[in-house]
Order: sequence, then structure tokens, then C-alpha cells
Amino acid sequence: MEPSGALRGDIGVRGSKNAVTKHMVAAMLGDGPSTIRNAPEVGDVDITAAMLEAIGFAVTRSGGDVTVALAGPASGSAVQPRVPEAFTGLNRIPILMIGPLLHLTGEAFVPLVGGDPIGRRPVDFHVAALRALGAEVEAGPAGITARASRLYGARIDLPYPSVGATETVLLSAVRAEGKTVLRNAATEPEVVELALFLQRMGAHIELSPDRRIVIEGVPRLRGASRWLAGDRLEAFSYLVAGLITRGEVRVHGCPQDRLVTAITTLATMGAQVDITDEWITASAPSGLRAAAVQTDTHPGFMTDWQQPLMVLFTQAEGMSVLHETVFENRLVYVPALQEMGCEIETFAACLGGAACRFHDTNAVHSAVIRGVSKLRGADVTLPDVRAGFSAVLAAAVADRPSVLRGIHHIERGYHRPFEQFASLGLTIRRG
Ligand code: EPU
Repeated sequence: MEPSGALRGDIGVRGSKNAVTKHMVAAMLGDGPSTIRNAPEVGDVDITAAMLEAIGFAVTRSGGDVTVALAGPASGSAVQPRVPEAFTGLNRIPILMIGPLLHLTGEAFVPLVGGDPIGRRPVDFHVAALRALGAEVEAGPAGITARASRLYGARIDLPYPSVGATETVLLSAVRAEGKTVLRNAATEPEVVELALFLQRMGAHIELSPDRRIVIEGVPRLRGASRWLAGDRLEAFSYLVAGLITRGEVRVHGCPQDRLVTAITTLATMGAQVDITDEWITASAPSGLRAAAVQTDTHPGFMTDWQQPLMVLFTQAEGMSVLHETVFENRLVYVPALQEMGCEIETFAACLGGAACRFHDTNAVHSAVIRGVSKLRGADVTLPDVRAGFSAVLAAAVADRPSVLRGIHHIERGYHRPFEQFASLGLTIRRG
């Protein structure tokens, strides 16, 4: 891809990949069809649709609508309890299907989950939660097998407010017998969005203060429809695309309340951020200054904003610090950026914030970034979806064209990224 001038224009963001795929799993629990609206066209939807089709659901897509219904008779008897091993390692969705499959068939097999290579990403919280709800769960070399003729409400305390484990509990407890009290639950907007969808399907869910979710199981749920709010990761990524190129991108469709910390971070760095009910825009006519940021659970600075921010720091005046506290190994993409001239040094220490749970480990999870660096075009391989977008940002401000390999990673999580970039003035040619 060629370096760009200032990127300018308007971008509309659709619902997030991390909400739409979970809604598709929730739809398994309804007696009738469910429709998810404003869904993005991303690879993860294709993968999740193929998994659902393989176990007996019909998934139809039209524009931004994704409809999930039983493919066979309305009783659910046609549902297959095994998610084929062919889906091993493609994304993090199979583990979330265990609860719904247990309700529908009394058993489940799901292949090992994948997703981005960002740390070990264990599923121990999911397994412990399913066991607490009464399932027999065995982890084997190929995947996880579970059995339960019925799930029962339970008290579950998560060791860390995991997004996925909270979703496993929601998707399993809504149709369990009795009350489930989940403590230390994740409160990310995508989790709340899923809870609201389940409520529309007829679930009894209370979102209580102090990260507590109370679910009173119900015997049946119906199909429902819901419009997804705009993706906060995409919104931030495009705001950064404007800033890093000394341009200005106006992002439509993502509510301000999903971006509070991101906006304040950009403003602290010297960006001028304008916010209306319809759009948010950021510009920095007189440049940006360094900052110290640590990622956190919501409403903190989210871990998926970290990678675009890392590249932005290389174009801000001074030394910045980034401390990743959510995933132990989420700086694996830094070597690719270093090849492009980014002056980034990484550390197995907690820099720029309080000690996190990786404090006494060898996890390389802090970075010091020097700006302003001259970036150079390079031939780099993209390791994952968010890091992939960052490499595009670096290539946009590099001195000569870059070759990026593995761009399918970007398409797994961003809605039509190459069209979006083209509309802003950045040309990416597929080889
Ligand atoms: N964890 C465990 N055991 C578990 C589950 C999680 O130790 O059983 C740990 C993880 O290793 C991690 C921390 O808990 O250190 C938080 O993980 P979490 O479960 O919250 O993450 P996730 O559900 O696997 C989702 C998103 C990620 C996003 C994180 C944090 C999906 C499919 N993925 O992952 O998104 O970064 O929440 O908000 O929803 C992305 O979109 O690129 C992406 C990686």
C-alpha cells in the first residue's frame, strides 16, 4: 500500500464483531427466528454463521440484517450437539455455544477456540461456570465435551471480570432452573448489549451495581430483534487514522458513551475532539503530545484501542508509556511496527500505572514509545485483527509503499476496511 496524505472524510460504523457473533449464539435459545440489525460484514460473522449452519440453524443475511432460525422443525430436535472440528481455532465463539447446546440437546462438543494470538487465552472460567451450573465438562485434546440434562442456577464468582465468561454465564443461566448470581461480571457495552437482547427474548436479568448480575432462569425464550450500536473499536481506529495523518475523520454511528475514555485520552494528547449526537471527529492541527495510558476493563481504556494508540504515540511529541493489563501477551505485534521504524521498547514490568496481575510474571506487557519517529515502508506480516489495522496506520504515514501480508485478519473484524480507507483517500491494492 502507498503512503497517504491527510485522511479526511466521513465513516459510518456498524455494530461490533464482538456483539453480533454473541447475539447469533443467543438466537439459538429462542423458540422463533431472531434478527440482528446493523450487523457488520466481517469474517467472524461468516465463521459463526457456518458453525450455526453446521449444527442445524439457518442463517440469512440481507444488508445489515442477520436472521438466525432453526433450519428444521420448530422443536429444536434437529439440532446437532457437535460443532465440527473443522472450526478449530477460527474464533472464540464455540465455547459460548455450550450453554445453548446443553439446553437444546443435553450435550455439547465444541472444538478448541482460537481468535487472536494474544496470550494463552484460557477458558478455565467458562468451564468452572458451566460446572457450577450443573454441567459435566471434560476438556480433551480436540475440544470440550459437556453433558447436562438440566442446568441449575448457581452463585458464581469470576476471578477476573472476563467478557467471554460473563457471556457464557448469561447464555447458560437464562434458561437454567432457578436463580444465578454472578459476581465480578464484565460490564463492557457489548456484554450489556447481549443482556438486553436476551431480555427482549424474555430472559429475566438484573444488572446490579458492583459487577453483579442476577439471572432468574425461565423455561422458554422467544425470538427477538435488535439494532446494534456502532463499534467503539472501529470508531476509535478511524479517529486515529485521521489524527495520525494530520487529517480529520468524522465517525458516525458510535454513541459517545462508548468512547468516553478514548476521547479523553485523545484530548489529553492535544487533539481537538468535537462531539454531536450524530458523529465524533478529532483533529490535531498543532500536533500531539505524549501520554501514559494503561488498558483496563470497561469503562477504562480498552485493550483493543491499544494498538492504534501505540502507532499514534510514535507520531506524538515525547516519550509515551503503554501498560497492557488485560491480556498478558498483547504486544506481539510490536516487532512489525519496529520494522517500520517505530521506536518502541517493551518491558516485562508494570510501567505507567499501578501493578497489575502480570506483575510477577515474565509477561512483556509494557511499552515505552518515542515520538515523533519517521516511519518507513516495509514488508510485514500481520499477526491479528487489531494489530493489522495498526500496521495500516503505520504504512499510511511511512516514507514509501509497504507490503502487508495476512490482511484477512483485518477483514475478520472490520466492516469493509479497504472501501472505508479508500473513501478517506488511502489506497490499498490487493496482491
Ligand atoms: N481469562 C482467563 N480464563 C478464562 C477467560 C478469560 O484467564 O476462562 C483471562 C484472559 O486470558 C484475559 C482476561 O481474562 O487475560 C480477559 O479476557 P476476556 O475473557 O475478557 O476476553 P475475551 O472474552 O476472550 C473479548 C473480546 C476481545 C477483547 C476482550 C476484552 C471477543 C470475541 N473478544 O475477549 O476482543 O479484547 O474481550 O475486552 O469478544 C478483538 O476483538 O480483537 C478482541 C481480541
